[in-house]
Amino acid sequence: MRVLLIGAPGSGKGTQGARIAERYRIPHISSGQLLRDHVRHGSELGRAVEPHLARGDLVPDDVILSMITEELAGAADGYVLDGFPRNVAQAEAAEKTAELNDRLDAVLFLDLPPGEVFDRLAERARQSDRPDDQEQATIQHRLRVYEDRTHPLLDHYRQRGLLVPIDANGSVDEVAARIAVVLDRYQR
Ligand code: AP5
Repeated sequence: MRVLLIGAPGSGKGTQGARIAERYRIPHISSGQLLRDHVRHGSELGRAVEPHLARGDLVPDDVILSMITEELAGAADGYVLDGFPRNVAQAEAAEKTAELNDRLDAVLFLDLPPGEVFDRLAERARQSDRPDDQEQATIQHRLRVYEDRTHPLLDHYRQRGLLVPIDANGSVDEVAARIAVVLDRYQR
C-alpha cells in the first residue's frame, strides 16, 4: 500500500501516520521527523535545514527530494508518507523520479478547521520542545505557508483521482476508523 498524508500543521498527519503504519504493517516515513532527526544528530544536512525548520519555512526542494528518494529506496513494499510532497513542484519532481514514481493508492487529506488546528498546536506547544511550536507567530507562519504552498496540492491530486478527504475532527480513534474504512479497500 502506498499512501500520502496531506494536511495543515497539527491536523494529525504524524498521529494517523503511525496508526496506518501499525494497521497495515508498512513504514511510516515522516519528512518532518527525518529532518528533525538530522538536526538532533548535527549532520551536515541538519545544520543546513535547522534555520528553515525554526522559522517554519519549507526547506529547499532539492534537499527534501534527495532525502525522501533515499528513504523510499528501502520501502519497496509500501509506505505511508507524511509531509511530502509539500508543494506542486515537489509532487511533479516526484512523478519524474524512479523511486517516487510508484503507483499511489490514495492521497488522504486530513481536513481540520483552522481554529481546531491552532488549538491542537497550542496544546502541543505546552509539552513539546519543537522550536517551531514555541512562538505563536511561527505557528501562524507555518499555517500561512501551508495555505500558500501546500493547499494547491489538493487540486493536483484531485485531478488525478487520488484525493480522499478525511474529516480530521474528533478523537484519534474516530479519525483512525474513518481512514481504515478507506484504506481497507486497498489492502493487497
Ligand atoms: P512536519 O513535521 O511535517 O510538521 P507540520 O506539517 O507542521 O505538522 P505537525 O507535525 O505539526 O502536525 P501533524 O499534522 O503531524 O499533527 P500531529 O499528529 O503531530 O514539518 C516540520 C517542518 O519540516 C516544516 O515546517 C518544514 O520546515 C519541514 N518540512 C517537512 N516536510 C517538508 C517538505 N516536504 N518540504 C519542505 N520542508 C519540509 O498532531 C498535532 C497535535 O495534535 C499533537 O499534539 C497530537 O497529539 C494532537 N492530536 C492529533 N490527533 C488528534 C485528535 N484527533 N484529537 C486531539 N488531538 C490530536
